[in-house]
Amino acid sequence: MSRVPILAGNWKMNMLRADAEAFCSRLDSELASALGEAGPEVVIFPPFTLITDVAGGLKGSVAQVGGQDLHSAPSGAHTGDVSAAHLIDAGCGWALCGHSERRSDHGESDAQVAEKAKAAIAAGLKPMICIGETGEERAAGKTFEVLERQVAAALEAIEGADAWVLAYEPVWAIGTGETATPEVAQQAHVFIRRMVSERLGAEAGQELRILYGGSAKPANVEELFAQNDIDGFLVGGASLDSEKFLTMIRSCARAAR
Ligand code: PGA
Repeated sequence: MSRVPILAGNWKMNMLRADAEAFCSRLDSELASALGEAGPEVVIFPPFTLITDVAGGLKGSVAQVGGQDLHSAPSGAHTGDVSAAHLIDAGCGWALCGHSERRSDHGESDAQVAEKAKAAIAAGLKPMICIGETGEERAAGKTFEVLERQVAAALEAIEGADAWVLAYEPVWAIGTGETATPEVAQQAHVFIRRMVSERLGAEAGQELRILYGGSAKPANVEELFAQNDIDGFLVGGASLDSEKFLTMIRSCARAAR
């Protein structure tokens, strides 16, 4: 079973139009050669205000664009939010759901994350659902309990969807420079895949792409990607630099060959 890897860049609340323009023109000119024949799918998650710029700037390449969040309602009185339809209208094919910074900054619950994923799927977006334990939860031996709860909520949301992705992002590794070791990440990915297989069947479990996120960078992507159950990366900090991001694309493309 070969799963097409994904390298996704989450710009969070960074980059302005000029930065996005420079990034896109570099990616656009280098992407085809970086990908080669077996490269990963590439997805960029810009801030909302830059989605149309990035979608336009990457039009000539195979790179895709996604929203960092969405509201679960299709439209209405929700000041400051955007809907799945807004994301699609702006050029998105993907939506991040339940990033840990949404969970911590905005108190998003598993149930709300599931509603967002459902709204994304209903509108035709592919949800990339983020899960992962905090440092305290890991220290307390609760990693698998937390993952079980978060995966169960995600599975309830994706019923009937044919394209969705999970991103395992241990919160203690996000933006800290402290990456999970390949063994720690692989152990979590195996647990997640086993759970998906038990609930949805062996084939669905084998097909699901599970990305790793948390201080992924050019220096560690190869050893993480060498793990059987790591199918790509959701990259924060290192995705702001087109050269670092291209290096990571090249690493995944080489390894996937
Ligand atoms: P990081 O962020 O690569 O800066 O740790 C990853 C993420 O939050 O998606």
